[in-house]
Amino acid sequence: MSAHIIDGKAFAASVRSDVAKDVQSLKQKHGITPGLAVVIVGEDPASQVYVRNKVKQTSEVGMNGFHFEYPADTQEEEVLQKVHELNNDPAVNGILVQLPLPDHMNETAIIEAISPEKDVDGFHVVNSGLLATGGKGLVPCTPLGCYLMLKDHLGDLSGKKAIVVGRSNIVGKPMAQLLLDASCTVTIAHSRTKDLPAEVAQADIVVAAVGRPEMIKGDWIKQDATVIDVGINRIPAPERGQGKHRLVGDVEYATASENAGAITPVPGGVGPMTIACLLKNTVTATYRQND
Ligand code: GUN
Repeated sequence: MSAHIIDGKAFAASVRSDVAKDVQSLKQKHGITPGLAVVIVGEDPASQVYVRNKVKQTSEVGMNGFHFEYPADTQEEEVLQKVHELNNDPAVNGILVQLPLPDHMNETAIIEAISPEKDVDGFHVVNSGLLATGGKGLVPCTPLGCYLMLKDHLGDLSGKKAIVVGRSNIVGKPMAQLLLDASCTVTIAHSRTKDLPAEVAQADIVVAAVGRPEMIKGDWIKQDATVIDVGINRIPAPERGQGKHRLVGDVEYATASENAGAITPVPGGVGPMTIACLLKNTVTATYRQND
């Protein structure tokens, strides 16, 4: 049987529409317009595309967007100075420093300089600590998007067996925490996991976040499992013409669709949810700062 395709593009549009309503309500009832500041250093083309989309969607939901661009050879001190300035600016409710930063910068130092209340990426150690201890922090956008899609599709996640493949601070670890909070039995698999196919085969929920094209094979997937594919990998597609590429996930989509009950496509699955959740976090941060 063919899996239900979870439409991340449509779901992200509904999240943005809820955010736009919250923004209107904040404006009308409290006279506050949420503001999101994005800082980008260097000319990484993928980062520039992300940032352009962030800025566009910020204004579409009625928020103020503040955009700061620095050349790649900027001193770390200058970026830290900007972060301090944004921390103290009441018009700014959320701060995002686009990663990766140039090699000469200490990424951790810059993230830790962001006020945890304005850390809409949820990368600050205070926010990861709050997530790990069941507190009310800001949750990283990509795992939050995956979690919302799972809840929307499955409802109660309690008692389900979940596997998160990948253990990054940005996706794998916070994803596992969210699933644990939802009372799943969670396995975190990684490059040293002994028998990955056997681990995946037990899971009702598979979240793939390894960044390796089609590494998770379709025939590993348990019948009717829900598959969330975080990977966005560009691979050569000579069948489309010389030098052409196509995007694939971390899961072998066609074969996984035969076993899964539901699956996110790539593109159009998790991807659009990340920015939608960034906007959602900015609204959450604004409410909390004005409580
Ligand atoms: N680079 C790629 N994705 C992200 C993200 O979600 N946040 C930040 N800050 N940088 C990124």
